[in-house]
Amino acid sequence: MEQVKDAMYAVMHEQTVVDFAEWYLSSKRVNRIHNPLKNGYMFIEGISGIVLYRKGPWQVELFICQPNVQIPEHMHKDVDSIEVYISGMHMNHSGKSQITLEQGLVDDGNGQCDKAYSQIRVRPGDWHGGFSGPDGGSFISIQQWLNDKEPTHVAWDWGGDTMGENHDQQIST
Ligand SMILES: [Fe+2]
Repeated sequence: MEQVKDAMYAVMHEQTVVDFAEWYLSSKRVNRIHNPLKNGYMFIEGISGIVLYRKGPWQVELFICQPNVQIPEHMHKDVDSIEVYISGMHMNHSGKSQITLEQGLVDDGNGQCDKAYSQIRVRPGDWHGGFSGPDGGSFISIQQWLNDKEPTHVAWDWGGDTMGENHDQQIST
């Protein structure tokens, strides 16, 4: 099994975050959580994160937002990523709404979010932000860490206004 994992990792090397996202989302691995012991969780200003997968520069995090949490416009200089919508969020990119909360509340006919698994590419330096709705919200972030930065949390590779004092403290330590 380990050999298969290493082979997959070798295949993923030299690929883009788009290839990684395709592999991750189509893999049965998405059904299983590979949570690393080190920096495996994140709690900042009403947002909880769990690392679902980490290997080399590739990482997948699931973020769950408490109701009505504002994520100020910000960017990550060392991360190329694809944000995968789950539900309950309003998401902006480059100053424009990409998925509105209203769109996120549309039923797909099965009582689930019609926009689930919609993707937004967020390249290094791209400004983005948003907020969660009154019931809370969540999304998955599929990442390639660049410039030899070891993957931790995107909230620790942050440019722009922070989310608050707790976030400030985490960044400065
Ligand atoms: Fe971000």
